[in-house]
Amino acid sequence: MLFDKPSPPNPADQGKIFGKPHPRIDGPKKVTGTAPYAYEYKLAEDNAVYGFLLGSSIAKGRIASIDASLAEKAPGVLLVLTHENAPKHKPENSRAAPQLQGPEIKQYEQAIAFVVAETFEEARAAARLIRVTYRTEDGAFVLADEKDKGKPTKTAPDTATGNFDKAFAEAEVKVDVTYTTPDQSQSMMEPHASMAVWEGGKLTVYTSHQVLHWAHAGIADTLGLDEDKVRVVSAYIGGGFGSKLEVYSDPILSSMAAIKLGRPVKTALTRPQIYNHTTHRPATIQHIQLGADRDGRLTAVGHRTWSGDQEGGEPETASEQTKLLYGGENRRVETRLTVLDLPKGGSMRAPGEAVGMLALECAMDELAEALGMDPVDLRIVNDVQYDPEKGPERPFSSRKFVECLKTGAETFGWSARKSKPGSVRDGDWLVGMGVASAFRKNIVQESGARVRLMPDGHLVIETQQTDIGTGSYTMLGMIGAEMLGLPLDAVDVRLGDTDFPKASGSGGSWGANSAGSGVYYACEALRKELARKAGFNAESVSFSDGRIISGGNAVALTDIVRTGAVEASDKAEFGDLTEKYAQASFGAHFAEVAVHAFTAEIRVRRMLSVCAAGRIFNPVTARSQCLGGMTMGIGAALMEECVVDPRYGYFVNHDLAEYQVPVHADIPDLDVIFLDELDDQSSPLRGKGVGELGICGVGASVANAVYNACGVRVRDYPVTLDKIIGRFDL
Ligand code: MOS
Repeated sequence: MLFDKPSPPNPADQGKIFGKPHPRIDGPKKVTGTAPYAYEYKLAEDNAVYGFLLGSSIAKGRIASIDASLAEKAPGVLLVLTHENAPKHKPENSRAAPQLQGPEIKQYEQAIAFVVAETFEEARAAARLIRVTYRTEDGAFVLADEKDKGKPTKTAPDTATGNFDKAFAEAEVKVDVTYTTPDQSQSMMEPHASMAVWEGGKLTVYTSHQVLHWAHAGIADTLGLDEDKVRVVSAYIGGGFGSKLEVYSDPILSSMAAIKLGRPVKTALTRPQIYNHTTHRPATIQHIQLGADRDGRLTAVGHRTWSGDQEGGEPETASEQTKLLYGGENRRVETRLTVLDLPKGGSMRAPGEAVGMLALECAMDELAEALGMDPVDLRIVNDVQYDPEKGPERPFSSRKFVECLKTGAETFGWSARKSKPGSVRDGDWLVGMGVASAFRKNIVQESGARVRLMPDGHLVIETQQTDIGTGSYTMLGMIGAEMLGLPLDAVDVRLGDTDFPKASGSGGSWGANSAGSGVYYACEALRKELARKAGFNAESVSFSDGRIISGGNAVALTDIVRTGAVEASDKAEFGDLTEKYAQASFGAHFAEVAVHAFTAEIRVRRMLSVCAAGRIFNPVTARSQCLGGMTMGIGAALMEECVVDPRYGYFVNHDLAEYQVPVHADIPDLDVIFLDELDDQSSPLRGKGVGELGICGVGASVANAVYNACGVRVRDYPVTLDKIIGRFDL
């Protein structure tokens, strides 16, 4: 069904189950260890063997020689693949991931050999026996050194309205600042892992991937197989954060070996391999120029971001939210991409906004201070209800931004904040408060589903949609239950299998709204079919308590399906409403931070996020998404950084001991408030993206609170204590 007009009231609006809090239906399986992750599948014949990847120890150049003879003779070894004996790939699809195709090295930890053995330990031990020599070439590894070679991009085109230079020059109050953000790693819990099974000319790949049809296309095309000869299963996923939007070597090498050996091959990347072998969020340099009149109204808005990626790669689109977040007539928003020979860049939770807001929202704090204005008020006066580049003819579909700021300020006790930094002391701690806006664009994607009412009255939902920990199982089950008038435990949700209808997958915060709409339309089709079978007019029926009701008549659903299951399929397709309307989720983050007067240790004390993201499908899992985003935002503000070794072009801190992410002890009292909102333009379910909203702006609220606590403004993230110690008065 095409969604191209504002949604009329519909059966998903009843509010009996959908929109009510519900714990995860997959929770018991996960906590009892019975939800199989990619590496854990057990086949009837338990004859799987183990692959181990050998990665390049240079970032750029060529393999001069590779000698696998010792590895081939090592105990348990069944196969060693290198570029000298690997089958050739002729990929056409952009999602393909050819492996071992030649001696060229494009990044550190690129797969250069693959060992398969009877046990994991044998494969790993043999991989260490492979002798490799390289011809190393110089690479470009430092963004600051390369940025002036940056070029504009199609992904994030430059825009300009009014006369920015003139307005900025004439602005009564201005800030002109450069912020930097480092390379960051998604560092999800489950490593990238795959098991490939080749049977009867058909390949099944159990893997950990966020968008199954992308994995399907990428794997099939790389291996030169028809898509109908390849099945991809990703039923449970231990986190992704964007890292699992791409196909890496594990499914490809496992499949190559499985096809050759006729035995299932399973491969997991080790934690240290992940940091350099897979994608990361690229570092940025961001130049922000804001000009305002004395009342705080922005007259000039300028944002330019530089980032780098391998040849043909993509920019970190950190300037993009600046096109839409605040008003102001004279604007210039730009993105520059330069070539770096670091590991390939990619998406990480809220690509673009997550780090764009780190810079923009601190620059706004700096502007508020320059104006002598409260930073909440500054944001309120610059609210705009339409796309400020296009004008009132492109309004926001819904935008409760000001309400988020006001509700947050009130709830958090913002009025107690002292505007002069370093004013509040609690024993040996300096205490400050910070605020930042939250903004994440709303994206929708085509998504399908198949639903089947079984003879025993159970509803089965099947879709390729994935659940990366976000709550898809529960949320989609709730939609099915609401639509068919069934309790949630009468719904069996089956996800993450390419045997099911193609779905949006999980990325860009589009999963719930898109896949949910697919299930909604499939349920609509099923309702019609059931009404027809019951002899009712489909337009006037309702579904409740396991019955289909029309006027004074009711029929039990089990009576209709007694002689056989009834099935329906449909998909959600989206028209141009995201063009006609600017669509985004909004919020406001508030943080209270303490900085130790003597050691400069930074502790977040409490935080509040107020979010407006359309209908909240399941307040339990949506809240959990926001808490996770806030936690990741604290990491971005205070800890996270892939440290580049500029000599060798790799990330040095490639494990969870040295890539710091917040742990429980770092996370204080966090709270989330969702405002009531329904967005008729976004989908039949009237929701907007939630999963990434929670991270956008959080880090800036923390950095602004650090500034308010101690008066030191750090413009190169993360804000670690070495950057503030000794720089503030006791
Ligand atoms: Mo997201 S970074 O598109 O999984």
